[in-house]
Amino acid sequence: MTFSKGLAGVVADTTQISQVQGEDGRLIYRGISIDELANQSSFEEVSYFLLKGKLPNPSELSSWTDKLKKYRKLDSDVEKALLSLPTDMHPMVALQALLAVLIHKEKPAQLKDKEAHIETSAFLISQLATLIAQVSRRRRGLPLLPVKDSLSHTSHFLYLLQGKDPDTKIAHFFDVAMILHMDHDFNASTFAARVIASTEAHLTSAISGAIGALSGPLHGGANERVLDMADAIKSPDKASAWILETLQKKGKVMGFGHRVYRTLDPRAKILKEILDTLAKDSKTQDVTFDILKKVHDTMIEELSKKEKDYIWPNVDFWSGSFYRNIGIEKIDFTPLFALARVVGWSSHVIEMWEDNRIYRPAAEYVGPDHVPYAKVK
Ligand code: SDX
Repeated sequence: MTFSKGLAGVVADTTQISQVQGEDGRLIYRGISIDELANQSSFEEVSYFLLKGKLPNPSELSSWTDKLKKYRKLDSDVEKALLSLPTDMHPMVALQALLAVLIHKEKPAQLKDKEAHIETSAFLISQLATLIAQVSRRRRGLPLLPVKDSLSHTSHFLYLLQGKDPDTKIAHFFDVAMILHMDHDFNASTFAARVIASTEAHLTSAISGAIGALSGPLHGGANERVLDMADAIKSPDKASAWILETLQKKGKVMGFGHRVYRTLDPRAKILKEILDTLAKDSKTQDVTFDILKKVHDTMIEELSKKEKDYIWPNVDFWSGSFYRNIGIEKIDFTPLFALARVVGWSSHVIEMWEDNRIYRPAAEYVGPDHVPYAKVK
């Protein structure tokens, strides 16, 4: 029996969906490098590619796009449930609560009925986008907005969230950010989805469990905490002292480090380039971005002194700064991770179901044995 805390380095299955090449700082989706897809493709094309295993031709892309549009509208039971939730409920918790209604309504399909599962995935991809936007609107005291069948998937999400069609450049950058977040081989939330689905539970149950795993600060919750850190630092000139103190206390700086990447996360690189472009084009100072640039420089300097040059910024370090820059509140940042990663979670479950075996790892028991039972007096 091999034991590795956190399953570090343990191969749990094979996959053709994506690979995180940690030493080289590369990420590939079904063999294509993430930077090629991020800068040239679209949410619709990459979601089809990850789920079906091939890039769509123009007519396949157009019917996939129409399918996602068809599933934007919430069922009245789901909308009623949404309106019954406490308005101060964290959106990641609200998503799990609302997925319970979708689980109840999911038509179970044969395990190997890939087409049926892809149809459910399309439904969940669109429903999640609408749910995230409408939960946010309700928290902000805004009326729910009717969905429309114009606009691309990610632009329609921004329209629902912000009440107006997004600016073309911002819409493109946001689509890039969603492609970057779609998949990342066996990260904690994807592995959670696989464990749940390996018992042949509903696909939607697996997605709900994955949302729970993603919400943690060590995983998807990190992007919100990076902004909490920036807000606690308050100004760029205070960043260095704040970081030194955190490291002194053996604390962890959110948005840095990764189980697999031993160099810069390629997604962080692309998000930083987007922020640099926005900063160059803007007339106003982006204080959050300036604070995080100072945090970055101090961290890189300090970590190299401690021979920890394998700790670099990950995707969560810059993503929140971009989302804030385009007017999104930090409590909505982790749901944005789910908005994209639902594609990866669904793709992995469907792939696993083609040759499924229930997960049941061994445990190394280190407690006592043959202890006699005696009631405590
Ligand atoms: C995501 O898995 C994925 O692919 C995830 C993800 C995806 O797309 O799905 O990439 C998305 O979750 C990115 C990670 C977001 N989380 C954070 O930014 C939280 C801060 N990072 C750390 O908690 C940590 O780096 C993890 C959780 C990301 C990785 O944890 P590991 O692999 O278990 O590493 P570790 O905690 O054992 O740290 C190893 C060493 C320790 O020092 P020593 O005890 O050996 O002296 O590195 C240090 C840690 O203290 N370290 C850090 C640090 N991260 C690790 N020190 C300061 N700040 C940090 N952020």
